[in-house]
Amino acid sequence: MTHPNTALWLPKRGAPFTVGPAPYTPPAAGEVVVRVRAVAVNPIDGLPGFLYRLALPWLAFPAVVGSDVAGEVVETGPGVTRLRPGDRVLGHAFGVDESRNRPAESAFQHYAVLLEHMVAPLPDALPFFRAAVLPLALSTAATGLFQQDHLGLAPPSARPADRGETVLVWGGATSVGSNAIQLARNAGYRVVATASPAGFDHVRALGAAHAVDRTAPDAVERVLELLDGGPLAGTLAIGAGSLRRTVPIAARAAGSGRIASTQPAVLVRLPALRALRRGVRVSGVWGGTLKDNEVGPAVYTGFLPSALATGAYRAAPDAVVVGHGLDRIPDALRELKRGVHAKKLVVTL
Ligand SMILES: NC(=O)c1ccc[n+]([C@@H]2O[C@H](COP(=O)([O-])OP(=O)(O)OC[C@H]3O[C@@H](n4cnc5c(N)ncnc54)[C@H](OP(=O)(O)O)[C@@H]3O)[C@@H](O)[C@H]2O)c1
Repeated sequence: MTHPNTALWLPKRGAPFTVGPAPYTPPAAGEVVVRVRAVAVNPIDGLPGFLYRLALPWLAFPAVVGSDVAGEVVETGPGVTRLRPGDRVLGHAFGVDESRNRPAESAFQHYAVLLEHMVAPLPDALPFFRAAVLPLALSTAATGLFQQDHLGLAPPSARPADRGETVLVWGGATSVGSNAIQLARNAGYRVVATASPAGFDHVRALGAAHAVDRTAPDAVERVLELLDGGPLAGTLAIGAGSLRRTVPIAARAAGSGRIASTQPAVLVRLPALRALRRGVRVSGVWGGTLKDNEVGPAVYTGFLPSALATGAYRAAPDAVVVGHGLDRIPDALRELKRGVHAKKLVVTL
């Protein structure tokens, strides 16, 4: 089977994107090909050249980037029995991940190869443009919360036990935070989230028991008051400045002194060494690792499909459709650079 494919190419680091023909790559064992109907954009997709070298030094050019896919399965590889052509799905595309590093597996094209175990079927009521907001942010949150090398929390399920412990999500109004709040709630934890006051309704609607102003000088004391001596299961630190505020909390709270940070690894190393002196273990999260361990399929194939269908999990933050067609993706990336609040920018294809 083959289909005429078109991609948004990045010819070299720092060069402008161009739309052009791309090969159709059939799926290997454990893979599916999806006709991409909607993509979301993330900061890593639109980095200037020098930052690309820092964040993705391995990336081969010409490259296709993009991580967030929603669309229809058109072909399945050997051994794939869970999905069939015609299935509506979302999936995390790993083309820019070091271990995959091939254009065929990135999101910004009409036909993308995805790993079957990182794909979730969608309920009929969830349109592609809304579903596309989830994959990278979901994977990053799940990596930090559930992988043993990070917080190692109990996994999410349809009927979670009440764990009697709190998870702190610093930066709850981000896309990663929106997923972290929901995942932690669905794993039975009480969530305290920080956001600016404009994000309070958003984090509460997703299940945070309390919202704290992350910009307030007394935010650390306020979180500690809300913990009230109760056990902290772990902290997901999202956004610039989040480690500076969360390390003192983890150092003083009862329970886990573990923090998973979504900041790039180079920015985490030094603060992590300093935190260790206070008894706090900080690790840097890379959402691409989720495909390589049991947490990925547990979330994408075990938990998410029914949680989306029952409404226990929402496609959050809300999607804003910037336009239709691959040539609108650079517009979406420019808009993302100007900043978004509790929204995810999406392009339909
Ligand atoms: N390591 C990985 O694998 C990985 C993957 C994806 C993303 N990330 C990183 O995770 C972070 C969040 O990305 P995203 O795409 O989820 O963000 P996003 O959706 O673009 O976040 C937008 C929200 O961020 C909040 N915000 C702004 N400045 C903040 C700060 N200094 N601290 C905390 N929150 C802040 C704002 O809400 P309020 O003003 O209401 O708080 C705003 O609504 C970024 O640093 C990104 O680079 C890492």
